[in-house]
Amino acid sequence: MAWDQVERYLAEHGPAFVEQLKDLIRIPSVSAQPAHDKDTRRAAEFIRDDLRAMGLEAVLIETARHPIVFAEWTGAPGKPTLLVYGHYDVQPAEPLEPWLSPPFEPTERNGNLYARGATDDKGQMFTHLKAAEAWLKTTGGLPVNVKFMIEGEEEVGGASLENYMAESADRLACDYAVISDTSQFAPGMPAVTYGLKGLAYFELTVTGADRDLHSGTFGGAVANPLNALAQMLASLKGPDGRIQIAGFYDTVKPLEPWEREEFARLPFSERGFQDELKVPALFGEEGYTTLERKGARPTCDVHGLWGGYSGPGPKTVLPCVAGAKFSFRLVPDQEPAEIERLARAHIARVTPPGVRCELTTHHGAPAVLVNVDTPGMKAAARAVEHGFGARPVFIREGGSIPVVGLIKERLGVDTLLLGWGQNDDNLHGPNEKFSLADFHRGVKAAARLLLELSN
Ligand code: BES
Ligand code: ZN
Repeated sequence: MAWDQVERYLAEHGPAFVEQLKDLIRIPSVSAQPAHDKDTRRAAEFIRDDLRAMGLEAVLIETARHPIVFAEWTGAPGKPTLLVYGHYDVQPAEPLEPWLSPPFEPTERNGNLYARGATDDKGQMFTHLKAAEAWLKTTGGLPVNVKFMIEGEEEVGGASLENYMAESADRLACDYAVISDTSQFAPGMPAVTYGLKGLAYFELTVTGADRDLHSGTFGGAVANPLNALAQMLASLKGPDGRIQIAGFYDTVKPLEPWEREEFARLPFSERGFQDELKVPALFGEEGYTTLERKGARPTCDVHGLWGGYSGPGPKTVLPCVAGAKFSFRLVPDQEPAEIERLARAHIARVTPPGVRCELTTHHGAPAVLVNVDTPGMKAAARAVEHGFGARPVFIREGGSIPVVGLIKERLGVDTLLLGWGQNDDNLHGPNEKFSLADFHRGVKAAARLLLELSN
């Protein structure tokens, strides 16, 4: 039977897949750093060539920044079409010092592959390529029609993919979409993610005088932008962990009773989580558990704060400018544009006299929440069970994947979020890793998904 042949192919070629993945990872496709533009392009070409080698029509779509790889196989008329999304760009590797092996020299330790992009998203994305290869090489076809859309600007919030999707909705038309760029719940506990948070990201600049001043001669007589900024940021969140912007919670969809039961059923130790992070206490919105806060409640965090003097020794400066980056993670049905309006009104209200404020908006993303009770989700759960040997749990995650909103808006399709990573994979950080066992299980689940979706 066809599936047996596919399984045999996967078993025989597993080691070769890992070597190919290593070759892809060795290309430092850091989309944020112009010095790596050539490498970023090389990664796109690598994927295009791999798709061609398995018999797909694959092209690079040129954009203002990094190309998009598009490929399709349409040899199953009457069968559904699956769109596979992934990204071949990676976050910068810096700081380099904490890496135990060089970030772009994939290194195996304890069954894990350590390198930048190992899990996010080269390793996870690659599972779908190898799954298609196994079908094509053993049966000469795929159980469903498949389109691949692999971009190179995910880690920089680039606009190229959004523009491409706006122009190419017909070419991208599909019945299902799948992304592997999330995590399992725990080792041995694979997950299907049915919720992601959205994001509204801001930068606030507070200015005072036209030059830095002596804090003795001028202090107390003019407002200090850094003091003002500190007050303003502190006003965003109360000691109860609630965001204090008027109207912020108006559209938040409450957790449903079945979700709270499911969250409570997951094996999770608040104490273990605290100990693992070595924090003196956990902190979050009152009335919710850690898993609920992480996955299903909106949050607010400051990401950077600058101004004045922070070099060695004291300097009695009254700075003329201060700045901060902060963001809100959003949940359904909060709209990033509406949150921006509310945030602007709040900042205007809490700006103390004597300073000027400028708020700029970085890219945002809507939250995602999909019905778990659909044929696609059921097929996905069966595929994951096949690949991982355990029935997946359904979870909501705190991260954001902006393309999921675009796929819904432009193509009218919910995305199957099948993540093969682990929570301690250090994505975006030093010593990023991906379990090789999870890689192989992911390839198998991805191959099985094609079969499950064809029925
Ligand atoms: N793979 C992550 C998203 C993710 C992380 C999902 C953890 C679930 C759990 C993705 O590559 C990412 O980092 N996204 C950014 C999006 C932002 C730049 C718009 C994020 O969540 O910060
Ligand atoms: Zn990422």
